[in-house]
Amino acid sequence: AGCGGDSGSGSGNDDGKITMGFAQVGAESGWRTANTKSIQESAKAAGIELKFSDAQQKQENQIKAIRSYIAQKVDVIAFSPVIESGWDQVLKEAKDAEIPVILTDRAVDSKDTSLYETFIGSDFVLEGKKAGEWLVEDSKAAKGPVNVIQLEGTTGAAPANDRKSGFADAIKADPKIKVVASQDGDFTRAKGKEVMEALLKAHPEANVLYAHNDDMGLGAIEAIEAAGKKPGVDIKIVTVDAVKDGMTALSEGKINFIVECSPLLGPQLMDLAKQVVDGKKVEKRILTEETTFTQEQAKAALPDRKY
Ligand code: AHR
Repeated sequence: AGCGGDSGSGSGNDDGKITMGFAQVGAESGWRTANTKSIQESAKAAGIELKFSDAQQKQENQIKAIRSYIAQKVDVIAFSPVIESGWDQVLKEAKDAEIPVILTDRAVDSKDTSLYETFIGSDFVLEGKKAGEWLVEDSKAAKGPVNVIQLEGTTGAAPANDRKSGFADAIKADPKIKVVASQDGDFTRAKGKEVMEALLKAHPEANVLYAHNDDMGLGAIEAIEAAGKKPGVDIKIVTVDAVKDGMTALSEGKINFIVECSPLLGPQLMDLAKQVVDGKKVEKRILTEETTFTQEQAKAALPDRKY
């Protein structure tokens, strides 16, 4: 295996097998677990040797992992950047070593787009917009103010930045809707619960929760119930992801609407890896297809939900 036939690159062995180094964000959510599984299973199915690392949501761990993949002369590096900024240096190192890089799930803000081959993942701004549009529609009948608590994903992460801005844009359509508090819940259930506990005390007027992922929403549901309120009724809830636990809560009426974000990026990623290792040009941006779910739609979709 090798990149562009250059003897200075490639896995260093001539077995013809592609080696991929994948630097994962962590295991912060049900979405991430499904994403990791998809990548590991599809690498196996595609006959790609996978070197996998979990950065525990720390950028420095991801940078270390990428440097180690460069040192091991893998054929291709793929990663899901925990935050958007601060990647130029390590991406240059990969480029100098002639190892192609594929971004999956989350973007980097590097101006020099030649530092990576392609980026496969969701349109997070659109996801935020869909959440906001649902709330605008749902609030049409509301007489009083619609006071939203927002649980944000990891500070600086592309899905946190974009889901926030897409939502903010959409809710401008109705001046009744106000975000009364917005705080980082790090995409985890535990942090979602902890932050929601505090925000419910500080904002008893809140009647909507917008959580940037299902896990934070599920944590928040525990806090809402502990505060003696009914999730989905006293506090309406809209989240992003549509993992099984989120879909279950949606079908039970505890969540009101979920915007889907697909974690099943593995098969397409392996296809792309083969192409870039072959020196083929691929599309610079590949968008994931996704939908939205109401409570009724969740009930219908749940039996076949794979993750
Ligand atoms: O980058 C995708 C996001 O990361 C998912 O929506 C969230 O659940 C995960 O932690």
